[in-house]
Amino acid sequence: MSKPSFAIVGCGTLGAALGRLLFQKGYPVAGVASRSMESAKRLGNILETENIGTTPHNITKNADIVFITTSDSAIEEVCKAIALARGFKDGAVVLHCSGAASSKILDSARSFGAYAGSMHPLQSFAGARPGVNLFEGILVSVEGDAPALDIARTIVADLGANHARVKADAKALYHAAAVVASNYLVTLLDMAFSLNKAAGISAEESVLGLFPLIQGTLGNIKTQGIPDALTGPIARGDVTTIARHIADMQEKAPALLTLYKSLGRATVDVALAKGSLTQAGADELIRLLEA
Ligand SMILES: NC(=O)c1ccc[n+]([C@@H]2O[C@H](COP(=O)([O-])OP(=O)(O)OC[C@H]3O[C@@H](n4cnc5c(N)ncnc54)[C@H](OP(=O)(O)O)[C@@H]3O)[C@@H](O)[C@H]2O)c1
Repeated sequence: MSKPSFAIVGCGTLGAALGRLLFQKGYPVAGVASRSMESAKRLGNILETENIGTTPHNITKNADIVFITTSDSAIEEVCKAIALARGFKDGAVVLHCSGAASSKILDSARSFGAYAGSMHPLQSFAGARPGVNLFEGILVSVEGDAPALDIARTIVADLGANHARVKADAKALYHAAAVVASNYLVTLLDMAFSLNKAAGISAEESVLGLFPLIQGTLGNIKTQGIPDALTGPIARGDVTTIARHIADMQEKAPALLTLYKSLGRATVDVALAKGSLTQAGADELIRLLEA
């Protein structure tokens, strides 16, 4: 059976990665649109299409599937503009890839005879990496109208990923979890690098030293789960070690102290759940971390 054609609206990081992979998998390209002609041209060249532009409804009108991969805040407006200009063909499937929003923001497409859905890849696409399929083996959460779900599930399988259904009203919390696990991990490591810098350890040395530690921790979380994977001074109830950290940070890295203390406070609860910390030890740590 021939594959449905697709259009991309929003030729940024994800739109380009998705477009490139669908093209490689043999999905016919209906066209690409973006806010700037430069982005549209760049992706149009890769996807070998001349149907490019900055007016999405001109580009999408013959597409079987329309991906709206703009920034989250623009999806609803962009969809509405295409719908009002009759830019979705009857029975087209319109998908966005936002983690936090449901397919409700595509209601305008529904009112014009299209089917709507959301398809969120749990992956971090940080820039162009041609030749790498970042969808391979990942989880993509899907939600929406039945025909949109059918298409989304087929695409997810074609890209080598697995799908999971997510409830429309659970998307914001589900996405907050992903932000904590991925984006806040970057922030956390930025803090670790800054502490090392204050200790006179270079960024290169930080990578060498911290990466095996991080990978070991991830391995422990995978095999032993949480809270058992927790080790370190809070799990052991080493109050003097934490007091030493705080004293030195007060002097050499005061800007990082608030975050250090609140993460430490949350870690006390994990240690209590593990059962490796006594209530008396926890109380002492809490006094120190909340001071
Ligand atoms: N990056 C990730 O790791 C990731 C992961 C999962 C899901 N997502 C989702 O994927 C979507 C895109 O994210 P991204 O990271 O690829 O963002 P991005 O790199 O900033 O790309 C967004 C693109 O949308 C275009 N755009 C913005 N407003 C527009 C408008 N009014 N009309 C047409 N095009 C418009 C911009 O075009 P110009 O370049 O022409 O200005 C830009 O290239 C978001 O919904 C995001 O939640 C991203």
